[in-house]
Amino acid sequence: MPEEKQPKPWGGGDHLYPLLLAGAVGAWLWWRNRQPLPTSSNTTMSGRVCIVTGANAGIGKATATALAQRGARVVLACRSPTKCAAACEDIRRRVPGAALDALSLDLSSVESIRGFVETFHKTGLPLHVLVNNAGKPGTIRGMEQSMVVNHLGPFLLTHLLLPDLRKASAAAAAPASAIGHGDREQSPENVPGTGPSSRIVNVGSRLEKRGNLWAAAVSDGGGDTAVPPGTRWFQPPPRKKHDAFGLYGSSKLCNMLFTFELDRRLEAARSGGRRLVTANIVTPGIVNTKLGDGTVSPWVAWAGAPLKAALMRTADKGAETVVWAATSPEIEEIGGGKFFGDKNEVPCSDASRDEDLARQLWEATEQAVGLEESERVV
Ligand SMILES: NC(=O)c1ccc[n+]([C@@H]2O[C@H](COP(=O)([O-])OP(=O)(O)OC[C@H]3O[C@@H](n4cnc5c(N)ncnc54)[C@H](OP(=O)(O)O)[C@@H]3O)[C@@H](O)[C@H]2O)c1
Repeated sequence: MPEEKQPKPWGGGDHLYPLLLAGAVGAWLWWRNRQPLPTSSNTTMSGRVCIVTGANAGIGKATATALAQRGARVVLACRSPTKCAAACEDIRRRVPGAALDALSLDLSSVESIRGFVETFHKTGLPLHVLVNNAGKPGTIRGMEQSMVVNHLGPFLLTHLLLPDLRKASAAAAAPASAIGHGDREQSPENVPGTGPSSRIVNVGSRLEKRGNLWAAAVSDGGGDTAVPPGTRWFQPPPRKKHDAFGLYGSSKLCNMLFTFELDRRLEAARSGGRRLVTANIVTPGIVNTKLGDGTVSPWVAWAGAPLKAALMRTADKGAETVVWAATSPEIEEIGGGKFFGDKNEVPCSDASRDEDLARQLWEATEQAVGLEESERVV
């Protein structure tokens, strides 16, 4: 009699080993994505005020939490007051006694940005750190909000808050008598001292390498009076279906060009003394947030959630380099105009370092957001 074949547990060894291997790799990735980065500094931020945009979710909320943990007063700048209040509650649960303010900011609206700055000024608070974190993905339907929310809005917001950042840094650096008094008025850039600089930290992405600013559209921009040259920068060529990553990447390339040009201008503005404000840009890595969820069907987002949790880093880990750039004393030595990932400078595209392109983009953006002459502060 032939011997009866015994069924193997788990449907047979053929499946068991790949399953075990996949499980082990998944567990390792899950563990690795939760490990803090080395050299985490816990610089105290007591007495310092930070604004974090898009602070109700993802990397922004994790950044706001970490800054509050370090003793900073954090202004959460969010589009939805309800989500902002809920985020404040969550943060206070993690950081009892956290000093938080919730202010409304919709980066797709010039009125909202100007209103936000006005309300912030009414609080009478100084400003030491601005984290331009809020962001939107591109979609196959076109540019939509990603260029507006990721580049135009933060450009305007940064300009309107730059005088506050300079003032707070000058006040931290020197006795009040050294600023704007005495025989020879000192511009903020020339104030001596060793206090910490104010910081602008923009949240970028390695997808900036996929960016394309449609240079052809720019070069003939002046010829068509119906379309102001400024806006043409932000119009991708008409097509039925867009490369969503390319559109997002373009807005992130703008973040890079803006950060580097801003830092060059901040550097050029000083003729001696210390630098009062530095501007850097950070890539948080691939982070498990809701960014992009709206660009796929809710079912795909739901089904992909466990995979995202295993393969992507947590928002807390994604925020680490943002917080490091905003708080670490090392930045005083390193300076601005850098692209950071995992607390180190990382390579960026050649286009992002193109100074001519950056200048053109700057001028086009000034026009697009309607920056007044008196607001061209750098
Ligand atoms: N996740 C990643 O893997 C990754 C990788 C590289 C770079 N980044 C960058 O990291 C930043 C944060 O993204 P995240 O991953 O944390 O995404 P997220 O969880 O979706 O958070 C995005 C934040 O931006 C806010 N926001 C969107 N539109 C806004 C508007 N018009 N005005 C003001 N706030 C607005 C959102 O508010 P609502 O909740 O109201 O929509 C939310 O608070 C973005 O700049 C993103 O490009 C993320």
